[in-house]
Amino acid sequence: MNTFRTLVHISLVFVGALAASAEDKLAATPPMGWNSWNHFADKVDDKTVRETAEALVSTGLKAAGYIYLNIDDTWEGDRDKDGVIHPNQKFPDMKALADYVHGKGLKLGIYSSPGPKTCAGFEGSLGHEEQDARTYAQWGIDYLKYDWCQQPPANVEQMKTAYSKMHEALAKTGRPIVLSLCQYGWNKVWEWGPSVGGNLWRTTGDISDRYAVMAEIGFNQNGLEHFAGPGHWNDPDMLEVGNGGMNEDEYRTHFSLWAILAAPLIAGNDLNKMTPYTVEILTNRELIAVDQDPAGKQGFRIAQEGPFEVWMKTMADGSKVVGLFNRQRTVEQMSVSFAQIGISGDAGVRDLWLKKDLGSFKEKYSAYVPAHGVVLVRITEK
Ligand code: GLA
Repeated sequence: MNTFRTLVHISLVFVGALAASAEDKLAATPPMGWNSWNHFADKVDDKTVRETAEALVSTGLKAAGYIYLNIDDTWEGDRDKDGVIHPNQKFPDMKALADYVHGKGLKLGIYSSPGPKTCAGFEGSLGHEEQDARTYAQWGIDYLKYDWCQQPPANVEQMKTAYSKMHEALAKTGRPIVLSLCQYGWNKVWEWGPSVGGNLWRTTGDISDRYAVMAEIGFNQNGLEHFAGPGHWNDPDMLEVGNGGMNEDEYRTHFSLWAILAAPLIAGNDLNKMTPYTVEILTNRELIAVDQDPAGKQGFRIAQEGPFEVWMKTMADGSKVVGLFNRQRTVEQMSVSFAQIGISGDAGVRDLWLKKDLGSFKEKYSAYVPAHGVVLVRITEK
């Protein structure tokens, strides 16, 4: 009996470990890709997606890790007499589109809502969860953003039920499909997101292409670092880099903060009209390595004095990535003391935007930080 119990226990642990590793594999590091909403909104169509697939490859974004090509709201058409969802006239053949995207070595994402209608008023998945999950799997979909839209306020149990239902429906298809929860951080989703199968969950309302909005979202993520890790990530919303509403220092702040936060890096600009500077930001390998660090530790704020904030992320190799963020409108000298980041001796400092080793420092590192800008360094104890 005891042996039997032990065996049952061992096999359960084994099955558990298998399940955990399969889920972790799906979003072992924060998902990277592109989404249509921030730039194209309801203008997204088959042609946009194909052109974006080509651009992901030709601009080097795919090589830098941007793999998911996600169609947001407004692709949905009607259901047929059997209840099967069909795309609208903007997407003549979703399966053919998925094949095309897969042919480029990319993955295709789609969007729906747990309610009857999506946020833009299109067909949602309520009552059709299993059917929709099967349709997505048949098309070859790899990622689903599931957005709580146009529904009466729900309590945490109702939300959990709705999200679990889709998670189970997706799991039943046997196709690995990343599940992105979008319900704006209501009911402290970070506390239960993983338990309903969420690989990432929005923690805030919608971002827009303005410094004030981006900064309010990004700098307010402090405290959520306890809830992120391999397979399950806080999502402060998609990137606005390259959309034109912020200056270069502000976009650098945006990208640096998202990297320190181990946030999903989902570009939201027109990839066919990028300035060299936009490409440089989005493909900065040293920043991407911070975001994608295998330890999956979300960074947090270690000091704040008015508009001056110092954030830190611990990397798998023990080094510390430190962001000196200046939220005021004029340049300012800022510093980080090594004691604050747990370094007692001398340390090597590398600037991740200049991509340059700055040498060895004692006790602290100081730098002039531009208005609304950042100095991002990786500090390694000697
Ligand atoms: C919500 C989401 C956005 C986008 C739109 C689409 O506002 O937060 O990211 O998906 O819906 O309608």
